[in-house]
Amino acid sequence: MSMPVQTLTPITAAEQSSIVRCASCHATLDDRTARATCPNCGGLLAVEHTLALPKGAALRARFDDRLGVESFRGTAAERSGVWRFRELVLPAARSEDIVSHPEGNTPLVTRAAVASFAGVDDLWLKHEGHNPSASFKDRGMTAALTQARRIGALAVACASTGNTSASLAAYAAQAGIPAFVLVPEGRVSTGKLAQTLAYGAHMIRLRGDFDDCLELARDASERLGVYLVNSLNPFRVEGQKTIVLELLQQLAWEAPDWIALPAGNLGNTAAFGKALREAHALGLIDRVPRLLAVQAAGAAPFAAGFADDFATRRRVRAETAATAIRIGDPASWDRAVDAIRFSDGHVVAVTDAEIFAAKRVIDACGVGCEPASAASVAGVRLLVERGIIGSGERVVAVLTGHLLKDPDAALAARVAGGLGSDEPLSRDEALGHLARVLATT
Ligand code: F0G
Repeated sequence: MSMPVQTLTPITAAEQSSIVRCASCHATLDDRTARATCPNCGGLLAVEHTLALPKGAALRARFDDRLGVESFRGTAAERSGVWRFRELVLPAARSEDIVSHPEGNTPLVTRAAVASFAGVDDLWLKHEGHNPSASFKDRGMTAALTQARRIGALAVACASTGNTSASLAAYAAQAGIPAFVLVPEGRVSTGKLAQTLAYGAHMIRLRGDFDDCLELARDASERLGVYLVNSLNPFRVEGQKTIVLELLQQLAWEAPDWIALPAGNLGNTAAFGKALREAHALGLIDRVPRLLAVQAAGAAPFAAGFADDFATRRRVRAETAATAIRIGDPASWDRAVDAIRFSDGHVVAVTDAEIFAAKRVIDACGVGCEPASAASVAGVRLLVERGIIGSGERVVAVLTGHLLKDPDAALAARVAGGLGSDEPLSRDEALGHLARVLATT
């Protein structure tokens, strides 16, 4: 079966402000394409905005003005930290098409304990776990479901290690479009499974890993005409760019020296690179921060590629307790290579022990994150130790998901750390326990 034929309303000249281009064969499609990958060669598609925009201070002022004016009175889209940057996301989307919670507007915080652990004084944490479904995926998903609505998609689908599926389930519920998710059996954390089911997606647990799930999702979407919204979908990338745009805005458009992020399927790394390229070309920033993509050592094909200047594309059988980034064959490899090269970036692998050491510090200062997210801080610490990041540099580490995404990991980390009492206590035992703990703190 082929993709269903869509009847499209004509596109006006004013709306025709974006095109979609294949990175491999350079074929162009209009911005209402229902394809997530190139129909000619299967390559990755990218959105290009052709709208003539003001540059530099004028564009910064436009985005800054929206912060105040649209803060609480407007529609969800007007209050969104994604659609605030709509000229760089999907300018042709009409407000009635936009599927927004709203999302974004996530905090940028500092914590002395995390800065001291990482070894940099000026460390900021961009907490994407404060999105509506508690991960950064909502930023790409609002764009993808908006596109799904624009093209009249009959159903949407993704493969996921859990966060994409939770986000897709939430946004598909809002859009009223049936959602199908493929997840690797036994490897998705409790919080993510609970969200996906509660928001009403059809969930299929596959005997296999994430890479098997993605291959099947791509195949099924081709055969069955279901709109694929994994991060290889070019509109997901457009939404995810706003993590970078928003953090730059929060820093008054003064570029930090580094932006660190955990890396799995490499969709986010690709989106960050595209955001930096565009922000620099439009004069939003006058210098480009260096990207630091951090992988788990058991799932680090991209870090291995970086070590030989990306001479060959690699894949591995992935294994890590940071299940969100347990990915061995990243789909957005080429785009991520471009992001690292463009930003003079770095890619590094950290062990699970290093990830959980960082997580304990992030959790204990009241910020908290899921295991994969802590990789960004662990990676910063490693590069400081290696002398690649200077202790006086300004670094933003992105925390991609909320602590409650993986409550089992959080509990295991604390019990291993010796806090809390394992057994329920009687009233008298509890008082005795309290007194003993107080005496030692
Ligand atoms: N951090 C978290 C919490 C994630 O869930 C993911 C990816 C990443 C980092 C890595 O981002 O894949 O763009 O390099 N999660 C996907 C999912 C794979 O299905 O939820 P990436």
